[in-house]
Amino acid sequence: MKIVTVVGARPQFIKAAAVSRKLRENHKEILVHTGQHYDANMSEVFFKELSIPQPDYNLGVGSGSHAKQTAEMMVGVEEILLKERPDYLMVYGDTNSTLAGAIAASKILIPIIHVEAGLRSFNMAMPEEQNRILTDRVSKLLFCPTDTAVRHLKDEGIVNGVCNVGDVMCDAVLYYSKNLENYSDDYFWNRQIGIFGGVDPASKWYLATIHRAENTNTAQKVEAILNAFENLDAPVLFPVHPRTKGLVKELIGKNKYTNILFVEPMGYLDMLFFTKNAIKVVTDSGGLQKEAYILDTPCITVRDQTEWVETLKGNHNILAKPDSDDIFQKVNYTEIDFKNKANHYGIGDAADKICKILEDVKK
Ligand code: UD1
Repeated sequence: MKIVTVVGARPQFIKAAAVSRKLRENHKEILVHTGQHYDANMSEVFFKELSIPQPDYNLGVGSGSHAKQTAEMMVGVEEILLKERPDYLMVYGDTNSTLAGAIAASKILIPIIHVEAGLRSFNMAMPEEQNRILTDRVSKLLFCPTDTAVRHLKDEGIVNGVCNVGDVMCDAVLYYSKNLENYSDDYFWNRQIGIFGGVDPASKWYLATIHRAENTNTAQKVEAILNAFENLDAPVLFPVHPRTKGLVKELIGKNKYTNILFVEPMGYLDMLFFTKNAIKVVTDSGGLQKEAYILDTPCITVRDQTEWVETLKGNHNILAKPDSDDIFQKVNYTEIDFKNKANHYGIGDAADKICKILEDVKK
């Protein structure tokens, strides 16, 4: 089968790495990068580290308003689909690249495969929630990461083509965290030395990322979050997403932060290393909540709700408001049930299951 895969944002490169490796054993894949994420440390580093094949097309769309960004991607993807005439279009997750690919294909009747289907936050103000609901609605094959996701689709009347295959991100964590054993702590710390100057690598640290629109739309919110980090009992390693960078720079000019290590966005292997070894993770990222869960690191999620509700069981993940006191209290909460953890996200064979289903569909 010929499949056109559309990716564009950082988490999609990771998911596509897990699936592409298997997919290309029996199918022809044409990879399209929309250019939604374009900085080297948001894009190129993942292609290199995860050995993702170079994209066949790069639309170079870049930043813009939601409509502008999505519309430009749709025009580019449509042209490619008309030229390549694939059997399927494959998209991942919930970004503007996902939606653009799905709408472009849907209008010219190319069936859509949605990987990571059925997730819901039930917060329609999030662009990601709009993207995933609309994409699920027009998809032909819906590969869900959990039973919860299957149930959400059923509640919306979507049952045909739906299957819980497990989470492709879990495939990636399990596959690439094996490689971490090959590296010593020194390897990682040495690579970070420019940033970490003066901090003892043997000491403990927290890992934090904040980039959601709802947490970064005012300086006050970012300041409240940074205030919480400043008061924690160990340094906070904070890779700063481009969306957050402007406000962080502004706040560094105004306040003195001595407990926060602001660093550039990291590659995937560094992120896995620091996630695995952090005291706790504080984030508003979807992927990082789950990576922390799989790697047994407690997580505090700065959001009102999470799509990954399974992580909340046993307090492996705790929701916090973007408020200094709330974040501080939740980070210091210690009643975590490590004993009763389950494999909610599969055992690392989601990509195998997806490829097996595609083989069956072909027959
Ligand atoms: C997007 C996804 C989000 C995902 C996140 C992962 C949507 C609506 N949101 O959010 O679901 O969790 O990616 O990172 O698609 N920018 C750069 N360099 C880059 C990329 C972005 O400077 O390489 C800047 C842009 O100027 C833009 C801002 O970051 O203004 C946000 O980028 P955008 O792609 O709109 O959304 P994300 O916040 O990254």
